[in-house]
Amino acid sequence: MASRRQLLTNTAAMLGAASSGMWLPAHAQNAKVRIGLMLPYTGTFTQLGVAIDNGFRMALQEAGGKVGGREVEFFKVDDESEPSKGVENANKLVQRDKVDVLIGTVHSGVQMGIHKVARETGVLNIIPNAGMHAATRALCAPNVFRTSFTNSQPTLALGKVMVDKGHKKAVWITWKYAAGDESGEGFKEGYVAAGGTIVKELGLPFPNVEFQALLTEIASIKPDAVACFFSGGGASKFIRDYAAAGLAGKIPLYGSGFLTEGLLDDELAPSAQGIMTTLHYSTSLATKRNDAFRLAYAKTFKMQPDVYAVQGYDAGQLLLQGAAAVHGDFSNKKALYAAMENAVIDSPRGKWTMSKAHNPVQDIYLRTVKGKENVVLGVAAKALSDSGVGCKLG
Ligand code: PHB
Repeated sequence: MASRRQLLTNTAAMLGAASSGMWLPAHAQNAKVRIGLMLPYTGTFTQLGVAIDNGFRMALQEAGGKVGGREVEFFKVDDESEPSKGVENANKLVQRDKVDVLIGTVHSGVQMGIHKVARETGVLNIIPNAGMHAATRALCAPNVFRTSFTNSQPTLALGKVMVDKGHKKAVWITWKYAAGDESGEGFKEGYVAAGGTIVKELGLPFPNVEFQALLTEIASIKPDAVACFFSGGGASKFIRDYAAAGLAGKIPLYGSGFLTEGLLDDELAPSAQGIMTTLHYSTSLATKRNDAFRLAYAKTFKMQPDVYAVQGYDAGQLLLQGAAAVHGDFSNKKALYAAMENAVIDSPRGKWTMSKAHNPVQDIYLRTVKGKENVVLGVAAKALSDSGVGCKLG
């Protein structure tokens, strides 16, 4: 048994170390930070998942591969963008692998599952894409942070752009699930406020790509313009079908920028010319910060980054800032969350801060497709913050 004197000495040594900020619980001192990546690595959002994974790892690499002074270990789950497996997949990382932080995901329906697990277990969750409103509105949580957007953020400024161009009657078309519906909400709010009318809302289940009947309907309605939310492989198919149906150039096509993001290759570009979108990033942003990011990303991954890569990269930056503030001690939640709430992220999209509800306050750019680029035409909304309605944090 340890003597009383020994105990006192040990306690004094621990207190000394703690006040110097060097002390970590024994298990954490040498242990690696366990990072769970729950992303789509198959299906229509595969490209998005891979870009987030790339961007996240790049941020950590640039910081020397350590988080809060500790080595890292990755655990990966392919969520397949399958909402019915959301809780089960999140629990693989949280309960089985005991991750310190869960990075995920892309699909809003799957995010609902992650969110349930995050709220129940208190695990730190950084959302690198999925925009579901509830995560940073009514169901916001101290341990959940987003480095992307709410679903209505990118489309909020789109309507005014369309009305300014004289397009007062529009059809809205999307996949019928949280992301499509909430993007539609944002679009409607801005469009109606600017004097526009949505003459018809069309939809199909995620991730269906049988657009033909809906395009025939659009042709018969003859609206001034069409606005939409699609993304990934399905977005590429929508753009090609829209052109093949003879609508490109006749009925101008608009959307949240996901429509054309990361997709403009030789095959798709001819069908996409002139499409106008609003988004919080463009690869063609002419800033030193973005140039450096593009160069480093292209060197490492032999491809151009897109908004998803940036969101993953910023998830890495956010985690690094939080972990540095607590010297890698993830059990110091109060200080960890405070550092993440106050983080200023020097992003390739432009500097951004966290709203009280833990969602980016950021500029939204107006872009148009020219060649194989989303060329930036200007800022459609400056320092746009989501309403965060119903969130009691902060
Ligand atoms: C979503 O489901 O929240 C989602 C998916 C893909 C995007 C944007 C949002 O590009």
